[in-house]
Amino acid sequence: MFISALTVAALSSTAFALNNGVGKLPAMGYDTFNAFAGNYNATDVLDQALAMEKCGLAAAGYNIIILDDYYALKKRNASGYMVADPVKFPDGLPALSEQVNKLGFKLAAYGDNGYETCGGYPGSYGNEERDLKVLSSDDLIADGETDIPADNITEQNMLGRYTRMSNAIEAVAQEIGVTFELSLCEWGWQQPWVWGRRLSQAWRIDGDIKPYWSAIAAIIDQVSFQYWASGLYGHNDMDILEVGNTGQGTPPGNMTYEETKSHFTAWALMKSPLIIGTDVANATQQTIDILGNRDLIKINQDPNVGESISPFRWGVNPDFVSNSTHPAEYWSGNSSYGVVFMILNSQDRPAQMAFNLTESWAIRAGQQYHVYDMWQHKMTGLAVRNMTFELPAHGVAALLLTDAGPEPAYLNGSCAVYYQCAWPNGTYISN
Ligand SMILES: *[C@@H]1O[C@H](CO)[C@@H](O)[C@H](O)[C@H]1NC(C)=O
Ligand SMILES: *[C@@H]1O[C@H](CO)[C@@H](O)[C@H](O)[C@H]1NC(C)=O
Ligand SMILES: *[C@@H]1O[C@H](CO)[C@@H](O)[C@H](O)[C@H]1NC(C)=O
Ligand SMILES: *[C@@H]1O[C@H](CO)[C@@H](O)[C@H](O)[C@H]1NC(C)=O
Ligand SMILES: *[C@@H]1O[C@H](CO)[C@@H](O)[C@H](O)[C@H]1NC(C)=O
Ligand SMILES: *[C@@H]1O[C@H](CO)[C@@H](O)[C@H](O)[C@H]1NC(C)=O
Ligand SMILES: *[C@@H]1O[C@H](CO)[C@@H](O)[C@H](O)[C@H]1NC(C)=O
Ligand SMILES: *[C@@H]1O[C@H](CO)[C@@H](O)[C@H](O)[C@H]1NC(C)=O
Ligand SMILES: *[C@@H]1O[C@H](CO)[C@@H](O)[C@H](O)[C@H]1NC(C)=O
Ligand SMILES: *[C@@H]1O[C@H](CO)[C@@H](O)[C@H](O)[C@H]1NC(C)=O
Ligand SMILES: *[C@@H]1O[C@H](CO)[C@@H](O)[C@H](O)[C@H]1NC(C)=O
Repeated sequence: MFISALTVAALSSTAFALNNGVGKLPAMGYDTFNAFAGNYNATDVLDQALAMEKCGLAAAGYNIIILDDYYALKKRNASGYMVADPVKFPDGLPALSEQVNKLGFKLAAYGDNGYETCGGYPGSYGNEERDLKVLSSDDLIADGETDIPADNITEQNMLGRYTRMSNAIEAVAQEIGVTFELSLCEWGWQQPWVWGRRLSQAWRIDGDIKPYWSAIAAIIDQVSFQYWASGLYGHNDMDILEVGNTGQGTPPGNMTYEETKSHFTAWALMKSPLIIGTDVANATQQTIDILGNRDLIKINQDPNVGESISPFRWGVNPDFVSNSTHPAEYWSGNSSYGVVFMILNSQDRPAQMAFNLTESWAIRAGQQYHVYDMWQHKMTGLAVRNMTFELPAHGVAALLLTDAGPEPAYLNGSCAVYYQCAWPNGTYISN
């Protein structure tokens, strides 16, 4: 089943729909789907909020709780309104919203731009403004799922149906002064990285994630071709996190610790929304430490630099070749805090990884750099010209490099890429 379409957070503001200050940085929060699918109620949602507050994930920046599909009744009421399931939510959604607000979270919800959600609940096609208003009065938004109507009925494609939702968001903003953050999902079928930014603050780029390394590697491979689409106010959505789901679900998730670290590193540095999808109330300290990695969250939430890291070398395969089991391994980018590197071992065994600093566009030749390790959370030394280290199978290094002044004088005359350096007389320096 496909799930997780629009994630919408209602934010009180007098500004209007898009370009209104909403969604500048990737959303951070919780979504019910990966851990609970359709099997959750008000108690479960509140338990997640309580657990996130207690274990420090709220303080780390996670501040939205998204109800995925299955919170409504299957039929609209006689006046055409969606109704929250009174068995699952006996006190109603406004009461739940109030409870999670007290814990520092906004309540948000999933909706659908078609006639039905993936789970067969009411979609919002033709009811966009009505549904948004109900959600805003509850201080939340619904997102819907995409049960795609026959095109001969709506005469719209994905762009058209999401345009309706986006226009409704703008109209509701003008009418009642409530803004929404819209995260859309059509699984990357119609290149949302091209048009998603016009209509939303985030767009899913791929099919649904699974708690296995093969799924994580395939999504990273996808981003290696679409990283350029992320920036401030618009984000590639790599899907809800599977951190913590090892041993959970059917068939059970089976990511190793190293794989889980690589998963979180990629999502954070590629500027994906960071949406927790595990049962936090039952999570291990290791899971909480990964989700709460403040060094990576700081880069994900960089207020000045919205761009994703990008690959500078593929590694196992030729550059610019898609390979879902061996995605690009060598990535870098800028941040307000230094030059970021993500080095990923895509192989099933430990591997030695090595690169020249100047392969990254953001490094200045002739400088040496302090190295900060974003998993060890400490400075680990000085990088001069190149770095070499071993990574475990599917392991990752997440490094932040800061300028440490000119490299030692004894090194001059050498050059990483011979045709990029010449003596003053014009002759190439060829080591
Ligand atoms: C939610 O479900 C749990 C069982 O999974 C139950 O103990 C709890 O009372 C339910 N809460 C509500 C509000 O129905
Ligand atoms: C349908 O729900 C809306 C919104 O909650 C409410 O205002 C309306 O009275 C309901 N209509 C019926 C027939 O129950
Ligand atoms: C739309 O297409 C479906 C499937 O091809 C067909 O059954 C239906 O009659 C068509 N409806 C209209 C209004 O043309
Ligand atoms: C992980 O689980 C998936 C799904 O059951 C399976 O296809 C895959 O082979 C498993 N991977 C390992 C390394 O056990
Ligand atoms: C909590 O996690 C353990 C270990 O992964 C698992 O065996 C147990 O079923 C989980 N309990 C609940 C309530 O999810
Ligand atoms: C991915 O790369 C591996 C290693 O080079 C190769 O064996 C495999 O055939 C490639 N897969 C695809 C789909 O290109
Ligand atoms: C990196 O971003 C910072 C903050 O915006 C900026 O000051 C700096 O010039 C950027 N560096 C590069 C190499 O783009
Ligand atoms: C790495 O740089 C050092 C200088 O710091 C140089 O001596 C060494 O040959 C370089 N190694 C590689 C593999 O380029
Ligand atoms: C070598 O470095 C020194 C300063 O450390 C500089 O004066 C000199 O021009 C450099 N030589 C070359 C060939 O780059
Ligand atoms: C790294 O730099 C060395 C010279 O120090 C050069 O021989 C080598 O080709 C470079 N490798 C890459 C991948 O740029
Ligand atoms: C250019 O300068 C370099 C370094 O001084 C020297 O080795 C080389 O022979 C010179 N080339 C020519 C054509 O003069």
